[in-house]
Amino acid sequence: MFRYSLFAISAIIICTVATTINQAVCTDLLIPIEITATTFVPNFAPFNGSTEATNFMLQLLNGYTTAPFKGTQNNTSSFIISAQYCTPFKPSARSTTLHLMTSGIGLDKTYGSELTHGLAATAPHLSDGIVLTGFTYNKTKDYPVVLGGHSINANQPERFAHLGNGYLTWPDQYALQYVYFSWPDFDPGVVAAFEENKWPLSTGQLLTHPAYVLPAPAFTGPVMYINGNNDLCYCFSNCTGLLTPALTELYFPNASVVEVLGEECLIEK
Ligand SMILES: *[C@@H]1O[C@H](CO)[C@@H](O)[C@H](O)[C@H]1NC(C)=O
Ligand SMILES: *[C@@H]1O[C@H](CO)[C@@H](O)[C@H](O)[C@H]1NC(C)=O
Ligand SMILES: *[C@@H]1O[C@H](CO)[C@@H](O)[C@H](O)[C@H]1NC(C)=O
Ligand SMILES: *[C@@H]1O[C@H](CO)[C@@H](O)[C@H](O)[C@H]1NC(C)=O
Ligand SMILES: *[C@@H]1O[C@H](CO)[C@@H](O)[C@H](O)[C@H]1NC(C)=O
Ligand SMILES: *[C@@H]1O[C@H](CO)[C@@H](O)[C@H](O)[C@H]1NC(C)=O
Repeated sequence: MFRYSLFAISAIIICTVATTINQAVCTDLLIPIEITATTFVPNFAPFNGSTEATNFMLQLLNGYTTAPFKGTQNNTSSFIISAQYCTPFKPSARSTTLHLMTSGIGLDKTYGSELTHGLAATAPHLSDGIVLTGFTYNKTKDYPVVLGGHSINANQPERFAHLGNGYLTWPDQYALQYVYFSWPDFDPGVVAAFEENKWPLSTGQLLTHPAYVLPAPAFTGPVMYINGNNDLCYCFSNCTGLLTPALTELYFPNASVVEVLGEECLIEK
């Protein structure tokens, strides 16, 4: 069972740059943090090149059968988080409200939704309300990377040659389209730009992320789910009817409101 805990977080803002964006004054922040967390120790050797990484993807597609971890370890590491704080030019009646919005890592959507779900379960007081996108309780496979996936250092060496073989990605723009976009409801330029600016997924992320989806009985804020019609990873290309009241009730029995928005809202698969 996946366990996630933060034992200590300390943060000091080390850098600020103020800019003006539309109707707001925004400040870019770099926040150094030191985190001690329980991490999982892999039960396999680091991949020796992209050939082994590719074979690992195949094992994931077939349903990984070996216990992937041999234990846990408390690991303290330092990170720098980048953030932006914006205030409107003209304060309104709601100017006492502060929105804290986090985006997902990797695909900015499904993975971020899983993290958000886990946060609502383990630290329910931290979020006032949550929006889960590209997400159901019917996960099928990690298609974005397992279909022809390999090490990102071989895929985009100009950006990622410095990373180890355990940082993974899908092959190209067309593999991305296959998993996330339903023609003709998208602009190919968006897919190309996404591909060019993509970031890696880690092996550990792929092995642990389903465990973030825990029941959140103590979460009492509003919950919104937004899905496309044809999501591959979470619906096997048909999202209709998957988020039943029985399921949302199971995970969020005490949410103030649960809303499920469907295909008409998004063009993305
Ligand atoms: C890694 O792969 C290279 C090239 O195939 C091989 O020469 C080397 O022995 C391998 N190392 C290990 C530790 O398996
Ligand atoms: C990690 O730290 C927690 C809290 O201090 C402790 O309960 C746990 O046994 C530690 N785990 C390991 C593997 O050292
Ligand atoms: C702790 O985690 C960092 C970041 O993932 C990693 O680079 C480092 O090797 C880990 N250290 C230990 C002792 O596991
Ligand atoms: C979706 O998941 C729920 C709960 O795990 C299950 O009852 C249901 O049969 C699944 N639906 C499909 C279409 O796989
Ligand atoms: C949440 O809902 C469940 C089931 O309705 C209830 O047993 C529980 O006491 C509620 N509150 C919390 C904080 O879990
Ligand atoms: C999608 O699933 C729903 C609910 O099971 C079903 O009614 C519908 O026919 C399916 N759509 C397609 C295109 O298969």
